Amino acid sequence: MEDKVILEAKKLKKYYRRGSEIVRALDGVDFKIKESEIVSIVGPSGSGKTTLMNLIGCLDKATEGVLKIGNTNVISLGENDLIKIRRENIGFVFQRFYLIPTLTVRENLELPLIFANKSVNTKKILDLLKEVNLEDKEGIQVKHLSGGDKQRAGIARALVNDPKILVADEPTGKLETKVGEQILKLFKSLSEKSLAIVIATHDLELAQATQRIIHLQDGKVIPKEKSDLYY
Ligand SMILES: Nc1ncnc2c1ncn2[C@@H]1O[C@H](COP(=O)(O)OP(=O)(O)OP(=O)(O)O)[C@@H](O)[C@H]1O
Ligand SMILES: [Mg+2]
Repeated sequence: MEDKVILEAKKLKKYYRRGSEIVRALDGVDFKIKESEIVSIVGPSGSGKTTLMNLIGCLDKATEGVLKIGNTNVISLGENDLIKIRRENIGFVFQRFYLIPTLTVRENLELPLIFANKSVNTKKILDLLKEVNLEDKEGIQVKHLSGGDKQRAGIARALVNDPKILVADEPTGKLETKVGEQILKLFKSLSEKSLAIVIATHDLELAQATQRIIHLQDGKVIPKEKSDLYY
C-alpha cells in the first residue's frame, strides 16, 4: 500500500472568543494521516476533538497554522472554495445520525447527490447499501431502523460523494458495544479502499482497535503510548 499523506496539520490553532476571554480550543496541533489509515482522536471533554473534526471537515476555519487536505492548504480558503473541498473530499458521520426519519434509507442517500447537483445513480446507492449490509432495507423509512442500522445508513450516506476522508465524531456514542464493534469492522473494510478515517471518541475500546491514537489535552497533542491510555 502506498503511503500517501491525505491530511496534514502543522501548528494548527483554533481560538474562540468567549466574551472577553480567548478559548484556545486547538493550540498548535501537528499530525499526518495517510490514505487507508484509521486514526482515533481521544481526550477529555473540552480537549478540542470536535473542534478538530470541524476543521478537518472544512465546516469551520482555523485561526492559524497549516491544514492540508491532499495538496491544498485549506487555511486561507474562502467559503466557496471550502465548500468545494468539503464536497470533494469529506464524508461525515455523526453520533446523532441526522438522517431524515420519514424518508427511506435510499432517499436519505440520494440527498447528498441532489445537494451536490449530481445525478442520482441508483446502482451506486444500492452498491453502497450492500457494502454496509443494508441492501434489504433500502425502502424502509429510517424511523423504523435500529440504532446500528441508522448508523450504517449514516455511513453509507457519508460515502455517496466518494470522499477521501471520513470524519466521524462519536460514531458509536449511543450504540451498544456489539454494534460499535460492527461499525469498526465496517470502517476497516472501507479503509482498505484508500479511504482515511478519523474518529473522535470517548470509547477507549474503539480507539484501541484503530491503527493509531492521537491524544488531545487542552488543545494540544500529547505523546502517550497506547498501553497507558487513560484520562
Ligand atoms: N463555538 C464555540 N465558541 C466558544 N468556545 C467553543 C466553541 N466550540 C467549542 N468551544 C470550546 O472549545 C473547547 C474545545 O471544545 P470541543 O467541543 O472541541 O471539545 P471536545 O473534545 O469535542 O469535547 P467533548 O468530548 O465534550 O465532545 C472547549 O473549551 C469548548 O468550550
Ligand atoms: Mg466533541
